[in-house]
Amino acid sequence: MSNPDKIPPARAMAVEDLTPFEARLEHGDLAAEIAAHDVRYHQQDAPTISDGDYDRLRQRLLAIEAHFPELRSVVAVAVGAKPSEKFAKVKHRVPMLSLANVFSDDEAGDFLDRIRRYLDLDPQAPVALTAEPKIDGLSCSLRYEDGKLVVAATRGDGEEGEDVTLNVRTIKDIPQVLVGSVPAILEVRGEIYMRKDDFAALNQRQEAEGKPVFANPRNAAAGSLRQLDSAITADRPLRFFAYAWGEISEPLPSMSQSGMVEAFGRFGFVTNPLMKRCDTLTDLLAHYRMIEVQRSSLAYDIDGVVYKVDDLALQRRLGFIARSPRWATAHKFPAEQATTSVTAIDIQVGRTGVLTPVARLEPVTVGGVVVSNATLHNEEEIARKDVRICDTVVVQRAGDVIPQVVSVVLEQRKADSIAYDFPKTCPVCGSHAVREADAAGKEDKARRCTGGLVCPAQAVERLRHFVARDAMDIKGFGERQIEAFYRDGLVTRPQDIFTLETRDTGSLKKLKNREGWGETSVRNLFAAIAARRNVTLHRFIFALGIRHVGESTAKLLARHFGTLDALRETALAAREPDSEARKTLTAIDGIGPVMAEALVDFFTEEHNSQAVAELLTYLTLQPPEVVASQSPVSGKTLVFTGALERMSRDEAKSMAERLGAKVSGSVSKKTDLVVAGPGAGSKLADARKHGVEVITEDEWFTLIG
Ligand code: IVH
Repeated sequence: MSNPDKIPPARAMAVEDLTPFEARLEHGDLAAEIAAHDVRYHQQDAPTISDGDYDRLRQRLLAIEAHFPELRSVVAVAVGAKPSEKFAKVKHRVPMLSLANVFSDDEAGDFLDRIRRYLDLDPQAPVALTAEPKIDGLSCSLRYEDGKLVVAATRGDGEEGEDVTLNVRTIKDIPQVLVGSVPAILEVRGEIYMRKDDFAALNQRQEAEGKPVFANPRNAAAGSLRQLDSAITADRPLRFFAYAWGEISEPLPSMSQSGMVEAFGRFGFVTNPLMKRCDTLTDLLAHYRMIEVQRSSLAYDIDGVVYKVDDLALQRRLGFIARSPRWATAHKFPAEQATTSVTAIDIQVGRTGVLTPVARLEPVTVGGVVVSNATLHNEEEIARKDVRICDTVVVQRAGDVIPQVVSVVLEQRKADSIAYDFPKTCPVCGSHAVREADAAGKEDKARRCTGGLVCPAQAVERLRHFVARDAMDIKGFGERQIEAFYRDGLVTRPQDIFTLETRDTGSLKKLKNREGWGETSVRNLFAAIAARRNVTLHRFIFALGIRHVGESTAKLLARHFGTLDALRETALAAREPDSEARKTLTAIDGIGPVMAEALVDFFTEEHNSQAVAELLTYLTLQPPEVVASQSPVSGKTLVFTGALERMSRDEAKSMAERLGAKVSGSVSKKTDLVVAGPGAGSKLADARKHGVEVITEDEWFTLIG
């Protein structure tokens, strides 16, 4: 529930606007963040964010994966959370499902229409449904055999939950023994929750005892139930509403949803008094409104209204889609909004250089959370909504990880207010910030800092890229080391890498004394750095991290220009869009207008030029090797597969490229030649399928002489 000052800027961007690079970064961050929250929630019972915020993180992760399938990970595939290790596991005999959501009256109507269509009913045919509050707690399954409580389990991942029997036995709302004649096997399901007043009192007590407070009643209920010592649970005011069931032996107590819940009441359970059977959509929506109006005065938190088909025979026919019943849905309350005023507009710079505007707000409570920052997404959004400093604005928390500014209350605008002027330079490093245009001239929504090499906001990312295997390839300089060196001010710019050894000699705090380092590892690092003082031009160009300049573009540029000076001069001269130099750049096969613009932006930024000049005082750049124009493989597309014995894969690749061939990772009908070592699998089969010539490694050497 914290409201950090720093909003991850990339998350303010629509997923479809992310570049693959940004998507990879954000995906990594999200996965790590979610994993950390899972541990805090499931193993430490000390969540630090609300469930809604957690869900939004997961939604964002899934959205990124849907857009960038190569990023799909194990984290996102898992639904819900695996039971933690500390409780015994219970397999649910009938899975515990979740509910689909609707967000408007129209969608509620669609839900009913879908049911009628599925059942092949007349569009006006009456279908009775129950409507009841959606309790914001955690669901629990209680198994009774011959009327006695035998097992209580949390939902877990829906298939398998945690055995919390001992703890549940301490909850007063939950009967140990049922009343009257009940089915021999009866699994009653419902929600364990904490009342708002009990939650407030518990938090007061926690605070007085110097213990951590809970973020909301739901977390308090979950944390209280999942205690290893049931004496602690007994001391916590947990409650239970029964609203569903799992396994039941025949005969059922009733053939309707409402009848079942009434029967649960007779057996000794507490059921929600706001459940109502409705015969029409109008009734259903009227009951929804009635519950919505009462929401804030109810003793417990709710986040919507659940609709369920009343007739169990129809429920059975309707069945399930994926993990939710077709016969039920949750009508969620709309995003909560509040008005407040904008005290300032700050610009945050992300690790990839994107400038994200953030509104600093007069703190206001929205949906139970104090909000003091909200994203304004980007320059266009500020302009579209015309948000100005001192404006009164409507803010909302919903559907996104962070609060948003929805609109400006124009009636309350001050007469002397002026439109916000989006900065054209990076507030962190002062380099110019640009909005790129694509080939069709359409401007990118994001404005980006061009001072990649010098901007502290981007420094760690740039350093990581600089030393990476495909770039400068400095061995022994991993992500963790870079981060630690940056944090301690040892390496904040690429050029610092090359002065590290000299500085270490004169320093009292020697590298070898740092945690995780020793005499040998430091020596190896210095050797790796020294080895890279001599580096090929294309590696250096790629290492600079110029936007849109990937490894193959770097090679292209190296081959075309031969020296860095030649490239820089052309880029500088190409500042004017219709200059000769610009034409020279875009005439290179493989360099389009967007890349040309990026090269111009990079080299015209004074800070970058200085950094490059400084780097060159430490480095000797190797000109590209001349590509043999006439080799047996020039112009051909090759694939290497299987284990190569006389050369590494990288060696094979660069050898082929030197000979003018293109190396691809997969075999298609465009492939001219496959070089296969032992153990070649599917690529060999593909080659056969496409009738592509296959040769051995030895034959390869004979071929190229
Ligand atoms: S019915 C097969 N009724 O909502 C459907 N669920 O999103 C079973 N919940 O895991 C659920 N109040 O924790 C149902 N009145 C209610 C509910 C309710 C809260 C929760 C429950 C479930 C989640 C599904």
